[in-house]
Amino acid sequence: MKVLLATNKPFALEAVERIQQVIESAGYELLKLEGYSAKAQLLSAVADADALIIRSDMIDREVIAAAPRLKLIVRAGAGYDNVDLEAATAANIIVMNTPGQNANGVAELVFGMMIYMQRNGFDSSVGRELRDRRLGLYAFGHVAKEVARIARGFEMTVYAYSPTLTHYDLRKEGEYGVITAYTNVELFSSSDIISLHMPLLDETRHIVDYSLLSLLPEDAMLVNTARKELILEDDLLRIMEERPSFQFVTDLKPDRHDEFTEKFGKRYFSTPQKSGAQTSDSNKNAGIAAANQIVAFFKKGDEQFKVN
Ligand code: 3PG
Repeated sequence: MKVLLATNKPFALEAVERIQQVIESAGYELLKLEGYSAKAQLLSAVADADALIIRSDMIDREVIAAAPRLKLIVRAGAGYDNVDLEAATAANIIVMNTPGQNANGVAELVFGMMIYMQRNGFDSSVGRELRDRRLGLYAFGHVAKEVARIARGFEMTVYAYSPTLTHYDLRKEGEYGVITAYTNVELFSSSDIISLHMPLLDETRHIVDYSLLSLLPEDAMLVNTARKELILEDDLLRIMEERPSFQFVTDLKPDRHDEFTEKFGKRYFSTPQKSGAQTSDSNKNAGIAAANQIVAFFKKGDEQFKVN
């Protein structure tokens, strides 16, 4: 049994060692394709793999067609929009994620980015504090719950809106010290800072548009550690042009990055490469979970965390 670890953005060495231990203790072999640059390398590496561990690596029809032995793909992370689920299902391949395992890493980055922006990139000009500002969490999964937990320490007022939660779950949000917004309009109307935490789905693509952004105050901030496709970039550019204090900070470089940089200077910041989960802690959590899920699937038929 061969398990391929295919990570274009490699895990910390410590995480890889732990993944290897889990896989080898089960009597399987770990193949590694880390930091690869060409799709051809992935296509040739998957040929022998029975199981695959990936991060944001693109697993499309072509990759699946090149992997005749593949039975399981585990996305070591939360979002699996990089995997063609239809093609995987058609090839009888199970796809799993490791929900929650890198949530704290992403949540901590949200605060790093908010403070960096509130202090104008640490340029020693007069900045702002987070205390008493109203933070709106768009969706309320693992990452948003960690953000809500940390926000309590900053004494922020936190609102959360989730299109998928039932009324029972909504009541439970109180446990996290957040105020429920029952619509996205209510969320944007109640917040100074919006942080996006939903997956990329057909129904969430371009969901953040002019009509929502215009509900925010003039000096609002938009924080994106989720997926770039959630935001309609034309509309965000428009609102930032209209409002000279509006800030945008993102861990997902927008398609129109150069335009944002040129037009908005310090009101805009993008990390050079997605780095929310790029910590040794998150790498270990997600990587070890992925390896354990592979062993549990092949030894016991455990399909928990299946997403297709
Ligand atoms: C996720 O969906 O888990 C995050 O976006 C992290 O992605 P990464 O593993 O590519 O850093």
